[in-house]
Amino acid sequence: MTDVELMQAAEKARESAYSPYSDFKVGAALLTKSGKVYVGCNIENASFTPTVCAERVAFFEAVKSGERAFEAIAIVGGKAGEPPTFCSPCGVCRQVMAEFCQKDFRILLGTKEDFKSYTFGELFPLSFSPENLK
Ligand code: THU
Repeated sequence: MTDVELMQAAEKARESAYSPYSDFKVGAALLTKSGKVYVGCNIENASFTPTVCAERVAFFEAVKSGERAFEAIAIVGGKAGEPPTFCSPCGVCRQVMAEFCQKDFRILLGTKEDFKSYTFGELFPLSFSPENLK
C-alpha cells in the first residue's frame, strides 16, 4: 500500500460522509502495521454532540476488528460538492491517536495529488497517553 493509494482510499471513503449540518465531508484511511486498511467518514447528528469524525470511525472500526498497531492515516476533507482541500485532524481525534500510536505514526494530509506526511509527534507534542498512567 503506497501513500498515494492510502490517499485514494481516504478520498473514496469521503464519498460516504453523512454531513448535512456542516456540509463538510471527510474521509480517512488507516493503515495497520499488518498491512490492512480501515476507512471512515464523518457521521453527523441532529443533536450535534454525537457527531463523529472520519478518523475516529476508522480507528474504532480497526480496534473493533482486533487491530492495535498502526502505521499511517490519510485524511481528506473539504466542502461537499467540491474537491477536497486540506483537513487537519481535530484535537479529539489526536487524543484517540495518542492511545494507539507512537510518535513516528504518519499522518498524510492534503489530496491524492498533493499531500504532505507529518508524524504524530509533530502534530501532537507532549500528548497525554497510556504512558502517563504507568
Ligand atoms: N471532521 C472530521 O471528520 N475530521 C476532521 O479532521 C475535522 C472535522 C468533521 C466533523 C464534522 O462532521 C465536520 O467535519 C465539520 O467539523
